[in-house]
This record gives sequence, structure tokens and C-alpha cells, in this order.
Amino acid sequence: MNNKAIGIFDSGVGGLTVLAEIRKNLPNENIIYLGDTKNFPYGNKTKEQIIEFSIQNVETLIQKGVKVIVIACGTATSQAIEELQSKFEIPIIGIIEPTVQYIQSQNYKEIGVIATQGTIRSGAWEQKLKQSIPEIKVTNKACPMLAEIAEEGKAQSEQGRKVIKEYMEPFKERNIDKIILGCTHYPIYEKIIREELGYEVELINTGVTVSKYLQKYLKDKGLENQEKSKNEKIFLTKPEKHFKEIAKNILDENLDIQAIWGYNNNMRLRRKYVFD
Ligand code: DGL
Repeated sequence: MNNKAIGIFDSGVGGLTVLAEIRKNLPNENIIYLGDTKNFPYGNKTKEQIIEFSIQNVETLIQKGVKVIVIACGTATSQAIEELQSKFEIPIIGIIEPTVQYIQSQNYKEIGVIATQGTIRSGAWEQKLKQSIPEIKVTNKACPMLAEIAEEGKAQSEQGRKVIKEYMEPFKERNIDKIILGCTHYPIYEKIIREELGYEVELINTGVTVSKYLQKYLKDKGLENQEKSKNEKIFLTKPEKHFKEIAKNILDENLDIQAIWGYNNNMRLRRKYVFD
């Protein structure tokens, strides 16, 4: 039993799709969410930058006293998880491993992956999938604009639909009916993706696979929260105009963000701006 919070980080609002699933599967757990809006987007950064930001995020969450950290970001998982796991003692869970385990359990032999440019460039999904399922066929598609459009609160706009249409072409051509949403911003586009593909498709939301994995992990390690005092805190490294509104759409309720936080000169999060 451990009543400390679960720490979750992403570059911005996308990781809330993971938070939403963790809430559903682990309703008793306290959560601290960190959106590194100051360094968003991660998708076009170098591996070295992603590692640097991720280390900073983990250190911030450790300072806040969490018991486990979930990297609710495909880009950071694909390029920084090994470094983080070897540098820190705290358990760190990314989105790739739990999802690969799910795909293996389903015996899938062909899969599509959509993710940021950085994630696709790293080859991490294909590599991990093939390590577990050597015969699997993987079709990758980098979607450079999607996280940015979502972060601007424009996922449902004509622009959002136009890029989805283009990004779905390789899957449509081959009738691929299982696609990993390899970036945590992408569940926001679920409806448009289905409409643009126009056939039955399983869109694999990594929030679902990660939250189930985490549930088992906490149980096996005896780290579950036994109290019923649920507490959630959201921290951002830079004020973000659309955060509250997008969060409301993802979580289907008003999020209790009382303040936006930013780093001070000592790299500690300090309250910068209070919502009215
Ligand atoms: N949500 C993130 C991911 O899963 C990051 C998108 C970005 O910052 O470019 O990849």
C-alpha cells in the first residue's frame, strides 16, 4: 500500500488521454500531471533534447513525491525511456511496452502505426513490435502536424480533417484495420480517423493499454492506494491558452486546474498565473 501520487508527463495536453484511462482503471489513485508546454512540441526535437526535457520532467515529478512515473508521450518513450530507467530508481513506465504486450496477446500479424516525426524516425515501435512478434508487418506513418493542431484546440477543424485524410492514405490503400495511435494527442482525432478511413478499424489507444498495465503493476508490487481521498494536480511549464478547454473535451468534465505553474531560475515549479 502506497498513498503517494502517480506522476504523469507529456509535452502538453495529449497525455490527458492517458490520464483519463488511468482515472477509469484506478479510481482511488492520486495523480500529478505535468505538461511540458514550454518545450512543446517534442515531435520535431532531437533525441538529445527529448532526453534533456524528459530528465527535467522526471526530476520535477520526483520532487513532488510521486511513487511511479508514466511517460504519457510516445516521442519521449521512443527516445528517452532507456536513459530514464537507467538514471532513476523510481519505476518508469512508457506507452510502447504495454501496447506491444497487448498486440502480442491478440496475435495480430499486421499493424499500422501513426506517430510524431521523431517517434517514427526512432523506429522504436517497429523494433519493439518485431522483437516480440517477428513476423508482424508494420506500416508506419509520421504525422507531423497533428499534435500541434490538437494543442491549438483545432482538431475538429477543416485543417484537422484535411491532414488526417492525407495521413490515412497508406492504411486505406492496404485496408489496414488495426492502427496504433502512437502519440497520445491522437485519440482526440478518433472520430475523424474513422470517418476518413470509412471502414471498421481498431484504433489502439495507448492510454488503455498503459492504464491496465499500471493497474497490474501497482497490484503486483503492493503499491496501490487504499485510501479514498482522490487528489489530482495539473502542472504546466508555461501558460497555455487552450489547455482548459481541450482538457474539458478529453476528460468530459471541468478539470480542477487552479493554477498554471512555470519554472523559476532554479528550475523549480512556481505558481505563475491563477485561473479566474
Ligand atoms: N503527445 C506526444 C506524443 O505522444 C507529443 C507530441 C509532441 O509534443 O510533438 O508523442
